Amino acid sequence: MSLLPATLVILATFHHGLSSVVPFDASDVGLNTVQMIENHGYPCESHTITTEDGYILVYHRILHGKNDDGSVQKPPVLLMHGTFSSSADYVSMGPDRSLAYLLADIGYDVWIGNARGNEWSRNHTTLDVVKDAEEYFDFSWHEIGYYDLPAAIDHILSVNGGDGLHYVGHSQGTTVFMVLTTTRPEYSDKIKLASLMGPPAAMTHQSNPIILELAKYIFEIEALFKKYKFYELTYVKEIREFAASYCAQPGSFEICEGIIFEFIGADAPQLDINIVPVLFSNMPTNSAWKQLFHYLQEIKSGEFCQYDHGSEKNLEIYGSARPPVYDLSKISTPVAAYYGKNDVLVNYTDVQIFISDLPTVANDYLVPFDLFNHFDFMYATDVVDLLYVELIKVMQQY
Ligand SMILES: *[C@@H]1O[C@H](CO)[C@@H](O)[C@H](O)[C@H]1NC(C)=O
Ligand SMILES: *[C@@H]1O[C@H](CO)[C@@H](O)[C@H](O)[C@H]1NC(C)=O
Repeated sequence: MSLLPATLVILATFHHGLSSVVPFDASDVGLNTVQMIENHGYPCESHTITTEDGYILVYHRILHGKNDDGSVQKPPVLLMHGTFSSSADYVSMGPDRSLAYLLADIGYDVWIGNARGNEWSRNHTTLDVVKDAEEYFDFSWHEIGYYDLPAAIDHILSVNGGDGLHYVGHSQGTTVFMVLTTTRPEYSDKIKLASLMGPPAAMTHQSNPIILELAKYIFEIEALFKKYKFYELTYVKEIREFAASYCAQPGSFEICEGIIFEFIGADAPQLDINIVPVLFSNMPTNSAWKQLFHYLQEIKSGEFCQYDHGSEKNLEIYGSARPPVYDLSKISTPVAAYYGKNDVLVNYTDVQIFISDLPTVANDYLVPFDLFNHFDFMYATDVVDLLYVELIKVMQQY
């Protein structure tokens, strides 16, 4: 790899103690992923990628950093977002903070994914996202891992010309990596290192009373949603805009913060009020309800397994009354795991159990900040010092 280790030292020095001082760039408010990248002068491309089952995805690419003409071939890296989210996660904090820019600046060919069904990836070779919603949204994160990722990885490697890529995921973006490498182990060899932030596998230590209650009634909830034909979590532009302006005002900020912290863990020191309008410019985005249901099923069962359709349909689809478990011992890719002590969605104990099941562990890193929550991997004010310097250091060893 032609990356200079010195760049990292400069990065670390530059950021030491500085990130909490640099103000957020308000010029990103109201912009989407591509507009934000262009707003900061980075060269950006959008690629359409068609999956084996006909979904047409849009992935973004930052070709190179600012002080570079892109003439040398760069190692590719794929960044994958979480549920209800999009490629915007990896650029919303702006240059010198968001991971996509940091990686472009130190010499990676950066690709940012958009899962099927989110606001970028809504086309299909035969289905219409609105008229055929029932069929279109009949997927969970299993299909994102099983169909989206192989198509994306093949596309990235054919464009870049390299023999392998780096994978970085947050939340659901890590689950889909596990699905891919346990169900299509041949893809393990195409990934040099997987850096997984807040990775949900089996979730036996979930302790939030509201989430536990939802999980208890998951099959009833699913039946109800089906009856009323709710297949997709659709976002309402006006609600986003309201949240962006309401939650960014001192006074109401604390109210929004309180509601969000209930589900992700309370970390007031790392949430800057100024990031709120940028965040709500792109979040939440569309997802299939089945993505959420699949996680709730896992909390109920305590197992990391394929979608549970009920024993009769399971027999038909899987040949067994219970859905098959994802066998983590099949993952031959080296995995670096990053997790937070105060992450309510993905409990650190569950991550430690996950790590102990992996064949090749490249890093086991509990972020050294006790309040670190599920959003902090993307949005903490000091995320560079607390996490990205470490994550990039390990990436550069592979
Ligand atoms: C969606 O995909 C179809 C089939 O490939 C294509 O003809 C159509 O132009 C696409 N629509 C949009 C909005 O990109
Ligand atoms: C993680 O799980 C432990 C044990 O169940 C629990 O005590 C703790 O509160 C959980 N942490 C969070 C942040 O939910």
